Amino acid sequence: MPKKLEVLYENKPCYNIIIENNFEKLVENIIEISPNTDRKVCIFTDDLVGSHYEKEVRERLREKFNLVITYTIPNGENSKTLSNVEKLYEELIKNHFDRRDLLIALGGGVVGDMTGFAAATYLRGIDFIQVPTSLLSQVDSSIGGKTGVDYLQYKNMVGAFYMPKLVYINTATLNTLSDAQLASGMGEVVKHGLIRNEAYYAWMETHSAGVLARDPQVMEELIYESCKIKKAVVEEDPKEQGIRAYLNFGHTLGHAIERLSNFQLFHGQCVSLGMACASYISWKRGYISEADYTHVLAVLETFHLPTKLSLPIAPQDVVSVSKSDKKMVGKRVKFVLLHGIGNAAIDMDVSDEEMLEALATLSE
Ligand SMILES: NC(=O)c1ccc[n+]([C@@H]2O[C@H](COP(=O)([O-])OP(=O)(O)OC[C@H]3O[C@@H](n4cnc5c(N)ncnc54)[C@H](O)[C@@H]3O)[C@@H](O)[C@H]2O)c1
Repeated sequence: MPKKLEVLYENKPCYNIIIENNFEKLVENIIEISPNTDRKVCIFTDDLVGSHYEKEVRERLREKFNLVITYTIPNGENSKTLSNVEKLYEELIKNHFDRRDLLIALGGGVVGDMTGFAAATYLRGIDFIQVPTSLLSQVDSSIGGKTGVDYLQYKNMVGAFYMPKLVYINTATLNTLSDAQLASGMGEVVKHGLIRNEAYYAWMETHSAGVLARDPQVMEELIYESCKIKKAVVEEDPKEQGIRAYLNFGHTLGHAIERLSNFQLFHGQCVSLGMACASYISWKRGYISEADYTHVLAVLETFHLPTKLSLPIAPQDVVSVSKSDKKMVGKRVKFVLLHGIGNAAIDMDVSDEEMLEALATLSE
C-alpha cells in the first residue's frame, strides 16, 4: 500500500514523503507541486545508481518536461566534494538553468546531500526533490533538509539547511542495493529505535528475518516507521538547536572512524561502531543496564553491522579527530548518550578517558 507523510517546517506544510514500490507516480507528484512543465530538469546521480534507474526516470520525466539532462558522478563518499558541486554548477550554467528549474537527486545520501547543497546555492536557491535509493537515504538523509559536502578531512563541513520540495521513495530500488549497503542503512534504523522508540526497536528485532530477506511488506513498514521518527524530530527542531542532535547518536566517534578509515567503512557501519561505544559509556555511567548494552550489540550484529573495528585505527586518533568535528561546542564534544532504550540525551562532559575506554571495546 503506498504511503504518504507530510513534513512541516515552522509549523507549516513543507513537503510530502511518498512511499511507493515503483516510479510510476513520480512525475504526477512533481507536477502536483508545480504544474509548470516548461521548467528544465537536471537529474543528479552516481554511476552505479544511474546504471540501474537513470534511463527509466529520465524517460518518465521526458514525457512531460522538454529538457531533461543528467549529471553523473562516480559513486561513493569520495565524490562528496565542492569541486564536484562546482562541476554541476557549470553544467547548469551551460544549459541555462534559472530559478524556475528543478534538480532531482537520484541516489543515496551522497547524491542527496550534494544536490540539496547545489540547489541551496545555485542562483541563491532553486527547487530540488529527493529520490533516495539507498536504505540510509530513504529512512534518514533525504528528510530534514540537511545538505552539504565534505571538506578537507571533515565530514559535511560545508553545507546549508535547505528543504526539498518532495521526497519520492521507490522501495523496489532496494532490490539492487548490496548487502553491505543494506546493513549500513540499518545502522540509522537501529539508531531511530534506540533514541526515540523502544517498541520500534523491539519490532525490528522481531522482523529481522524479513529485513534481511528484503521482504517488501516488512521494508515498507520499516521505511514508514523510520520516516515518521525522522519527520517528528526535524519538525520539532529543524535547525538542530535541541533534540535533532539526538540523531547524531553514534556519529561523534562514528564520523571520526569514517574519516580515519578513509571511507573504506560505510557510513552506517561507522555509526554502528559509534553506537556501540556510546552505549558502552551509557552503561558505564549507569544510564542503561549491562543487559541493555549487550542487547544493543546483539541487535547490531543481527543486522550484520560491526561492533568490532577491523582496521588498524588508533583510539587516540579517533578521539582527536572527533574533537575537530563540527559537533563541538567550544572545546567540548557534544555527545549523545542513552538514558534508557528509546530515550536519548545530550552530554557535554564525556571525557577523553571514557571515549578511549569505549573505543578499546572495539578491538577486544
Ligand atoms: N543529510 C542528512 O541528514 C544525512 C543523514 C545521514 C547521512 N547523511 C550522509 O549520507 C551519506 C551516506 O548515504 P548512503 O549510505 O546512501 O551513501 P551513498 O550515497 O554513497 O550510497 C551508498 C552506495 O550505494 C549505492 N547505491 C545507492 N542506491 C543504490 C541502489 N538502489 N542500488 C544499487 N546501489 C545503490 C551508491 O552508488 C553507493 O555506492 C553520507 O555522506 C552521510 O554523511 C546525511
